[in-house]
Amino acid sequence: MTDFKTLDDLGDLTGKVALVRVDLNVPMQDGAVTDDTRIRAFRPTVDQLSQKGAKVLLLSHFGRPGGRKSSTLSLSMVVGDVEKVLGREIMFVPEIAGDIVAQSLGIMRAGEVAILENSRFYPGEEANDADFAKAIAANADIYVNDAFSAAHRAHATTEGLAHLLPSYAGRAMEAELKALSAALDNPVHPVAAVVGGAKVSSKLDVLTHLVGKVDHLIIGGGMANTFLAARGVDVGKSLCEHDLADTAESIMDAADKAGCTVHLPYDVVVAKEFKTGAPARTINVHEVAADDMILDLGASATEALGDVLKTCRTLVWNGPLGAFETPPFDEATVALARTAAALTQDGSLTSVAGGGDTVAALAHAGVTEDFSYISTAGGAFLEWMEGKELPGVAALRG
Ligand code: 3PG
Repeated sequence: MTDFKTLDDLGDLTGKVALVRVDLNVPMQDGAVTDDTRIRAFRPTVDQLSQKGAKVLLLSHFGRPGGRKSSTLSLSMVVGDVEKVLGREIMFVPEIAGDIVAQSLGIMRAGEVAILENSRFYPGEEANDADFAKAIAANADIYVNDAFSAAHRAHATTEGLAHLLPSYAGRAMEAELKALSAALDNPVHPVAAVVGGAKVSSKLDVLTHLVGKVDHLIIGGGMANTFLAARGVDVGKSLCEHDLADTAESIMDAADKAGCTVHLPYDVVVAKEFKTGAPARTINVHEVAADDMILDLGASATEALGDVLKTCRTLVWNGPLGAFETPPFDEATVALARTAAALTQDGSLTSVAGGGDTVAALAHAGVTEDFSYISTAGGAFLEWMEGKELPGVAALRG
């Protein structure tokens, strides 16, 4: 963290203009934001810049309009929700650069906040076009990036601007980087990683990176079936990428060499059909019938994994252990999440989780407040778990 400037490095900003990259790519239904977590995340940054006297211009993308204006993806739609969360009036500026922004700044007073139009209405954004970035920077004095969840994109507002203006990590970005660095860059060992989700193919790079970093790799979800099948287990009708058997083998070999224990379930919950409330049985993995589907980890395996977590000091979690959206196949995810939450609250475990499904799964388990840190980033969290340097973060290092 020492290689970033933060808001602590800023003095009085009266009369200065701060461009703040936030992530307003929020879920909406019927014109209202359905989850305001990302808005709440940047409030401290906006409040502090405003208190220092800056005129604050919020920058963000919204959806994927592909470089064209679209009335359904204007950021004007989120202004009301941002006003509610920030508890202040916010101006909307229907452009991102040029005279209209300059004129709006002319009527804004010190400490006031405006939202600029969707950065992806302009082709220069995703192309990371230098002239586009220069035109945005021309109206401002400093750049603050508070959008970790968009930092895996090398776009003008996430990366380019950082090279043109004095740049700072916002409070949410700072907290995210601190938590993630404590979990994988410089963790207290033993470290466990839970990696779940449907497909090995979408998390190959994550698994390959993690086996060299963690002491225990806990594999759940549909991915576990691919590993079980690679070990010769008949997984019946379960979701399974049979063509990745060799890949699964080589990940297990790499884990062996690195001293990382891979945990696969030895009991599983199976059903003949995949629907809520379907009759389910818990069986040994070697008893899966040809018409069975594995949909969750069994209770014994889950308890054993809880015991593994009790020996660990750090946990990184991405992806559910079972088909948690379809009860009763949520039980392993809920049970292990609660064990991790309790260990965190006892002070023996630092727990970091992230990724779209993961946040929903942990919310379903009721432990959102009890983990050390839960990242709302999707793609950016995965790329970080793959060990990649995120362009938006690298640019803040200068
Ligand atoms: C997200 O929602 O994960 C970020 O805002 C990035 O959005 P994108 O995948 O459209 O770049």
